[in-house]
Amino acid sequence: MIKAVRGVRDILPSEARRWQRVEAAARQVFEAYGYAEIRVPLFERTELFARGIGDETDIVKKEMYTFEDRGGDSLTLRPEATAGVLRAYIEHGFHVEPKPVRLYTLGPMFRYERPQAGRYRQFHQANIEALGETHPALDAEVIALLMDFFEHLGFKERLALHINSIGDAGTRPAYIARLVEYLTPHRAELCPECQVRLERNPLRVLDCKTPGCQPIIEKAPSILDSLSSDATRHFDSVRRCLEAMGISYAVDPRLVRGLDYYVRTTFEVRTTELGAQNAVAGGGRYDGLIAQLGGPPDPGIGFAIGLERVVLLLGEEHRSRALSAFLIPLGEAPLLRLMPIARALRQAGVSTELAFGDRKLQRELDRANRVGVRYAVIVGDSELEQGQAIIRDMKSRQQRSEALDDLPELFRRLAAEQPLDDERPTR
Ligand code: HAM
Repeated sequence: MIKAVRGVRDILPSEARRWQRVEAAARQVFEAYGYAEIRVPLFERTELFARGIGDETDIVKKEMYTFEDRGGDSLTLRPEATAGVLRAYIEHGFHVEPKPVRLYTLGPMFRYERPQAGRYRQFHQANIEALGETHPALDAEVIALLMDFFEHLGFKERLALHINSIGDAGTRPAYIARLVEYLTPHRAELCPECQVRLERNPLRVLDCKTPGCQPIIEKAPSILDSLSSDATRHFDSVRRCLEAMGISYAVDPRLVRGLDYYVRTTFEVRTTELGAQNAVAGGGRYDGLIAQLGGPPDPGIGFAIGLERVVLLLGEEHRSRALSAFLIPLGEAPLLRLMPIARALRQAGVSTELAFGDRKLQRELDRANRVGVRYAVIVGDSELEQGQAIIRDMKSRQQRSEALDDLPELFRRLAAEQPLDDERPTR
């Protein structure tokens, strides 16, 4: 048997409804904030990610699915969406449009990480980018949008928003120098990975989860004390805007994120319910990145939501009863009479299954119960003669007779009175 690749999973029909709900919520909330959908390719030139995300990040160094195509070009499956969206922004001259340009995209990303619950090698993100504007009110608006998405799904109480400012590219080297100065005497006490980070990407030490590193990290100098006055003003203003909207947050000076492009505002939404994979969304400002990718000097800010984690949080829903009518002909003549009726019902948007007329009634009713249907419609030879059908309510088990010709109208009416689809959103 050929199995799915490690860390890559199927989204089965039993889960697909939850995915649809999450994706629909994302689209609805993003569009309410004026975001337009953009769909960018699943693979790009490798250098786009190397330049965009940063050569020293874990993503670029260890996690990319990179391959050479038959023409000899080095290509990479996208590990995130931002670089591709910015490439498209530059390539299609979006910068001439009214700013900020607001774009969103949904879809799979690929990272060669060690798989565990909530962490996969193919995973999905809902991603937004707001481009061309530096005002701190935009940072707060983007965060409000993210929180509204979670609120829409009923998660408000289960998540915490963490924010930080990691300063400007110009002032960060001074902080990094202070950090290295502080960490170097503790070098031997750090985990092996942090020892490498200390050399290559010292900021990432702050992000380490290893228990042994925590006491050292806790006493590290705070990046907030090293911000330029501009960056401090920007951050204070973001906080005031969040407060004006009643959005609660925790300031976390250790929140540095795993991608190199961030400046100033960074943020993450975390849960305590998913073990080690506690980040359900993350993002930040990345002024300078568009220019670095060869575009105009436009600033930008955005985030991505990890959809697997959101679906996990959503938990089990009631079994979905998507089917509304189950038509049971008893024999070939009733089958031929019901075929056009089934088609009319489906055309009217009533989800319908038609049996084939070759099995006993009880077996078909059992099947109707198993697939989860509200009404069974039974037609044997005698009903056919009278132009009637027996409608059986599978919940109450009550039966009544209706004219065959009236069935499409009857189901349209039933659908209008109460949702035939028995699935109720659970919170
Ligand atoms: P990120 O923090 O790398 O940011 O990913 C965002 C979210 O994607 C994470 O918080 C997590 O929920 C989910 N995620 C990441 N890796 C995995 C994985 N292996 N399995 C399951 N879920 C995962 C970015 O990707 C940035 N591009 C966000 C951004 C957009 N910043 C600005 N604009």
